[in-house]
Amino acid sequence: MKIIKILVALLMGALVAIQFVGIDKTAPDFNQENDLLTRKTPPAEMAQMLRNACYDCHSNETQWPWYSHFAPVNWMLEKHVIEGREKLNFSYWGEMEFEDRLFAVEEMIEEIEIGEMPMPGYVAMHKSAQLTDAQKQQFIDWLRSLQNIDE
Ligand code: HEC
Repeated sequence: MKIIKILVALLMGALVAIQFVGIDKTAPDFNQENDLLTRKTPPAEMAQMLRNACYDCHSNETQWPWYSHFAPVNWMLEKHVIEGREKLNFSYWGEMEFEDRLFAVEEMIEEIEIGEMPMPGYVAMHKSAQLTDAQKQQFIDWLRSLQNIDE
């Protein structure tokens, strides 16, 4: 079937062509002193969970995976990072208003409880982001402790 061969060739040509449309992997400089981990100094295990499960999309310290080199997957990743940082960026924790931090903590608890965050698609590709029930509880307990002492 000649038409199929032509279609496959066109598709492959398109796949090659879109590789030239890269993504922006840079992040603005930020003051480390305002980072959530610096401000709140969680226990090591808790800090690791935040880094593994949230920091790629909610901080300026994104670790881009190898497949972020390839379009169209990289466009999707970039979108998640841009939107994630827009909603909540732990690199600017110390600059946020008190009410906004309290609200963010409340939302984080909710998102973890309902299993929306970390994003399931992300967890499928990042085993280290997978939280057991016990770890989720530990995460939530830590967040609740912030609600009591945050100023
Ligand atoms: C793969 C990227 C990614 C990861 C990893 C990720 N998030 Fe998100 N997060 C997003 C995006 C994109 C949004 C905005 C769209 C949405 O609300 O679904 C968001 C939104 C949020 C919001 C705001 C929800 C709202 O309704 O406004 C909270 C809170 C949040 N994330 C917490 C977390 C926490 C806590 C973690 C780690 C346990 C985490 N996220 C991991 C991408 C991510």
